[in-house]
Amino acid sequence: LQTLPPVQLAQKYFQIFPEERDPIWQDPCEDKRHKDIWSKEKTCDRFPKLLIIGPQKTGTTALYLFLGMHPDLTSNYPSKETFEEIQFFNGRNYHKGIDWYMEYFPLPSNTSSDFYFEKSANYFDSEVAARRAAALLPKAKIITILINPADRAYSWYQHQRAHDDPVAQKYTFHDVITAGHDVPIKLKVLQNRCLVPGLYATHLQRWLSHYHPSQILVLDGQMLRTEPAAVMDKIQKFLGLTNTLNYHKILAFDPKKGFWCQLLDGGKTKCLGKSKGRKYPDMDVDSRRFLREHYREHNIELSKLLYKMGQPLPSWLREELLHSR
Ligand code: A3P
Repeated sequence: LQTLPPVQLAQKYFQIFPEERDPIWQDPCEDKRHKDIWSKEKTCDRFPKLLIIGPQKTGTTALYLFLGMHPDLTSNYPSKETFEEIQFFNGRNYHKGIDWYMEYFPLPSNTSSDFYFEKSANYFDSEVAARRAAALLPKAKIITILINPADRAYSWYQHQRAHDDPVAQKYTFHDVITAGHDVPIKLKVLQNRCLVPGLYATHLQRWLSHYHPSQILVLDGQMLRTEPAAVMDKIQKFLGLTNTLNYHKILAFDPKKGFWCQLLDGGKTKCLGKSKGRKYPDMDVDSRRFLREHYREHNIELSKLLYKMGQPLPSWLREELLHSR
C-alpha cells in the first residue's frame, strides 16, 4: 500500500475532487458517527433554531428587536465586524467553521429560553446560504419578510445615499435602476444591490429546494410595519413557543418616529435608531412605473409559489397583481 504525506495527499485529493474544496458543515448530531467523535463539551443545542434571512431593508431589524423581547427566544451576541449580524452562511465567515459560529450563542441553560435565533439579512438572496444552512440546521425554521421589491430597492438606494456612497450621491434613483450595460461598473454594482434581492420568487425557490415549505414563514413586511403585534402572534404560533407573549401590550406606536417601538415601563418607548425608518421623499412616478414592469413576471411567479406553499399573499403583492392585469 502506497500513500503520500498528508499535505500532498490533500492536494491530490482536491485535484481529483475539486468540487469538495468548498467545505459544507453538516449537523454533527444528525449522524451518530460524527457525534461520537465530537467533543463531549459541545452540543447542537448551541445552534440557532430560527433564522431570519432577510432580504435587507424589509424590517429585519425591527423583527429582531421584537423577537428579542420574548422570554423564550435568545438572539446571537452582536458581531463587531458586520454590524450585529453574524453573516455566517453567505460569505467568508463560513470558512471559519462551526465552532466560530457557535461562539455567537450562549451556552445552553436547559431552560425554555434556549431557543436561539439569528438574523442576517443577506442570507435571502445569497447563492449559497440556503444549501449551507440546510446542511447544518436541517430542522431550523426560516422567516423571510417581503415588502414591495420596488420600495425595497428605493430604501436600499436611500441607505447608500445616507452612507455617502458617491455613486448614490451622483445618480438619481431613476438613473440607477434604468442604467444599461455601458455604464461605470460601480453604477452597475449599485443597480444590482437595488434590484437583484427583489427577484423574490427566484430566491425563495432556492430556499424551498433545501427546506420543506412548512419550515418557512413568509411575512408581509407592510403588515409588520403597521400591525406588528398581529405579525408577532403569527410568528409565535409558527415557532410553537410554550409561552405566548402579548405584543399588543408591549409595543406602542411612536408618533414622532412614525413606527412601532418597544414600550418601556413608565410609558416611554424604545425605537430603532435613525438609520431605520429614514425620512426621504416619495419615489418618483417614472421609477415606480419602471419597477412595476421590471418585477411584474417575478411577482406573478411569487404569487404562484406562495399559493403552492399555502401562504397568504402580502397586501402589496395583491395590489401589484391588480396593476399587472
Ligand atoms: P426605511 O429606513 O427605508 O424606511 P432593515 O432593518 O431590514 O434594514 O429594514 C429597515 C426598514 O424597516 C426601514 O426602512 C423601515 O421602513 C422598516 N421598518 C419596519 N418596521 C419598523 C420599525 N418598527 N421601526 C423602524 N423601521 C421599521
